[in-house]
Amino acid sequence: DIDSAANAIAKRAHYSPPWADVSLIGIAGSSGSGKSTLSRAIVNKLNLPWVVILSMDSFYKSLDAESSKKAFQNEYDFDSPEAIDFDKLVECLRDLKAGKRAEIPIYSFEKHARLDKTTAIYSPHVLIVEGIFALYDPRVLDLLDMKVFCEADADTCLSRRILRDVECRGRSVEGVIKQWFMWVKPNFEKFVDPQRKNGADIIVPRGVENLVAINMVVQFIEQKLLEKSRHHRAALLQLEIQAQSE
Ligand code: CTP
Repeated sequence: DIDSAANAIAKRAHYSPPWADVSLIGIAGSSGSGKSTLSRAIVNKLNLPWVVILSMDSFYKSLDAESSKKAFQNEYDFDSPEAIDFDKLVECLRDLKAGKRAEIPIYSFEKHARLDKTTAIYSPHVLIVEGIFALYDPRVLDLLDMKVFCEADADTCLSRRILRDVECRGRSVEGVIKQWFMWVKPNFEKFVDPQRKNGADIIVPRGVENLVAINMVVQFIEQKLLEKSRHHRAALLQLEIQAQSE
């Protein structure tokens, strides 16, 4: 049968998995909607070795002195697509999709700046890209195999954001609330929410609590991987048949 034939070829040909064929999942949604928790829940369920979560937070641009001053007063707009270095993100995603290594910038929310160091990521089986603008740039949309929009009530999002930003991002409660009403909320309506209608394949209400939706995403990824592995095995088999007839 095809499986044992492919295994036999694999052994002889030092078969390695098709790294250049990473499955890309995009997860967008409001700040504090639980995108990162949802991504981790999917990874846990998937139980595969080569799954990577890439946060779009890594791709915030560094600021000049004047903008940086504004940022420390919670007056800089980090919720406009302008704040994100989409060119760098696309470059990294294309490299990973092509089976290459990508150097991911490291961003500090405390300094509002990109650090000098980078993190190297090697092409995984599955890559989850999560961020408020994960379904925004047409070049990214083109690369994605599945597009997810994570939904939560605005008050849930704001409460989560206050707790997280104070605990992990060096902010004050007053500062978080000021930034929320100045930029986060209006720009959610302007830029983030439209991705639900224009970009998403599935919408996940109640984020991480939604086991049905998580299972759907997991099943989709498993199905994709299975198809790719079948396709790869069939290609190997064809090569072997060709080699035998020559
Ligand atoms: N942001 C900020 N300061 C910066 C850069 C970004 O406050 N120097 C904020 C932006 O206002 C934006 C948010 O970071 O709204 C994006 O991160 P968020 O989506 O909240 O975090 P995730 O962990 O990716 O998502 P979730 O909360 O849904 O898990």
